[in-house]
This record gives sequence, C-alpha cells and structure tokens, in this order.
Amino acid sequence: MSKRLRVGILTGGGDCPGLNAVIRAVAKSLILQHDAEVIGFEDGFEGLVEQKMQPLEYSDVSGILTVGGTILGTSNKANPFNYFKRGGADVSSQVVTFCRKLGLNAVVVIGGDGTMSISNKLHKLGVNIVGVPKTIDNDLMGTDRTFGFDSAVAIATEAIDRLHTTAQSHNRVMILETMGRYAGWIALYSGVAGGADVILIPEFEYEIEEIVRVCKERESGGQKFTIIAIAEGSRPKGGTMVVQDMVTDSPDPIRLGGIGKVLESQLEKHLRSEIRTTILGHTQRGGTPTPFDRNIASAFGAYAAAMAADGEYGSMVALKENKLTSIPLESVAEKVRTVPADAAMISTALAVGTSFGVSNFEKRFVGTKHSTPLT
Ligand code: F6P
Repeated sequence: MSKRLRVGILTGGGDCPGLNAVIRAVAKSLILQHDAEVIGFEDGFEGLVEQKMQPLEYSDVSGILTVGGTILGTSNKANPFNYFKRGGADVSSQVVTFCRKLGLNAVVVIGGDGTMSISNKLHKLGVNIVGVPKTIDNDLMGTDRTFGFDSAVAIATEAIDRLHTTAQSHNRVMILETMGRYAGWIALYSGVAGGADVILIPEFEYEIEEIVRVCKERESGGQKFTIIAIAEGSRPKGGTMVVQDMVTDSPDPIRLGGIGKVLESQLEKHLRSEIRTTILGHTQRGGTPTPFDRNIASAFGAYAAAMAADGEYGSMVALKENKLTSIPLESVAEKVRTVPADAAMISTALAVGTSFGVSNFEKRFVGTKHSTPLT
C-alpha cells in the first residue's frame, strides 16, 4: 500500500485578504483529489521552528473563503535563518529535521518576497516547498498578480471616491497615502480607478512645481479641488523616502509612512487652498477579499495543491498573461517588481490627463504604446 500524501501549509509575512481562501483551496483539493493529510503550521515559520501545528480536516477549512486574515496566524519576524526568539540564531537545520521527522512530502508556503526568499533557502536544504504569491503590494517578481492586491485597491479606491465628494464641497486639495512599500502599484491602480488628478509613486521622484501647476491649473479651469494619490515609498526629487519606524527584529526592518504629510507641508507653501492628508494604513490589509481575489486565491491554492501532489517543488505559482503557471523560487527570491514606465496603467493614466508629478513625463519616460498586461 502506498504511503498517504502528507502536506504542510503555512502563511508568512504580513497578512492580506485572501489567505484563508488559499488555505481552503489547498486543503480541500488535496483532501478531495488525493486523500492527503494536511497539517497547518501556526504563525508562519515560527510554527515550523516551535513545532506549533494543527491537522487541517475538510471541516476545518469550510466557511473561511470570505474571511479576512489567516486562520493559521502569521509572522513577519520568524526567519529560521535568523530566528528572533533565539537571539538571531540559525535554526534552519532544526526545521529540516522536523519536516523529515513529520514525513512531509511538501510544505505549501503562502507569502511575499521575504517569505519566498526564506523558502528558497529552505528548499536548497531539502525541504520540498511550493510557494503561493501573496501581498497587497503586488511586488513579487515573476507573477503579474499577487492575491490581496485587488482588495487593497478596492479599499483605496473607495477612500478616493469618498475624498472626492468632501474635497469638492470644501474646494480642498486631498492627499491619500497608500501602502505598497517600494512599489507604486496600489496608488497607481486605485488612483486610476478613483480618477485621481495626480498619482505619485516611488518609481518616479516627484517635482513639487509640477503638482502645484496641476492644482493651480485645475483652479483656474473652475475645478477648485484636487485629488492626489501618493504611495508610501514616494519621494521628492533629490529627497529620500520617509521611514516611519524600524522594527529591528524583522528581516525587513524598515516601515515606510508619512510622505503624505511631507507633501502637504511642501504644497502649503505654494497654494492658498486648504490641504488635508489621509493615511489609509492597515485598513488596506483587513477584511473580506474582493470576488477577484477570492477567485485568484482559490485558483492559486488549487494549482499549488496539484504541484505538491505532482512533486513540483522549489517553485511558486504564478499568473502570467492570464494563465496559471509556476516559476522557480530562485527567480523570485530577493527581488522586487516595481512599476515599469511602460506599464499599461501608466499609459492609461497619461491618456486621461493624470499627472505623475513629473514635468514632460511622457517624453522622458514612455512611448505611447504599453507593453505590460493590464492585470
Ligand atoms: O507588505 C505589505 C505591507 O502592508 C506594506 O505595504 C507596508 O509597508 C508594510 O506591509 C507594513 O508592515 P507592518 O504590518 O509590519 O506595519
């Protein structure tokens, strides 16, 4: 009699909407298609180090599709190669031994770039890993989409819609600061969806004179309000990103935030209109996933389960030109996918007159054709 397939699953890094949808899809399809045994590790890689786990039966993953967060818990500090609870010790060999002892055929790891980098190193040590790309930032290399991004964009878009009406009533300049770390995807997609007049992203240093020009031009044209979407990683020309906090025991200690207020004080020197700043923060990570995120999270999960069953290890599920595929963890690790100047949504924004806070943007950065997929 052949041994029953045994697969572990964990969620690593910051949470986002859709994690439970992936857990459900992985567990249900492994149980239904392969009669597999599924084990959930708690609090990301901490569960593998501290041996915190729970069996996941079919009933355990029922009713969680629409629920935000993760039933397994997560951690953006637990790195087995530099373990925060043991003074930064390398406990990776302990993790490898534990996975062997459990007789795991594979571990499905759901996470962002930090989690995929750790997964790549563990895979090289002999742990059979299948990655699933998660993050609201949409900044993972090798996939056109991560799940969680669409939900964050929906939340930021709703915020822009709401800022629009109050901006109009008071003739104000409204600044909305989104998350996204070093990539501007959330600000770009919510900015276009919400019709922001100016979109500022880390990929292009902004010029204050250009933003002032847009606000004044709108005012003289009868539109006495302006909506600005700014990504937390943005910076003025010649300036630096605004670091809000340093989480020293985290593998990626820098926490960005506060550039919206910096922009507000820069603009105050040039404009008579009142300016207000809203920082969306973690609302972008909470709550129920959008239908699109539920769908790609489910599709990613089912695909990851098939990879685990087929023995396709050391790779991450990816969405490329609207098709599910997989790419080696090696090509994802330690990389960030930022917004290219020829992104389809950049051309779209330019076509409807949105400013990126850079004078002569089109001449300096792009041609008229876009070359990246829209999603
Ligand atoms: O990577 C997701 C993200 O929400 C970023 O957009 C943000 O910069 C960071 O995580 C915030 O991290 P924390 O939850 O540790 O404050």
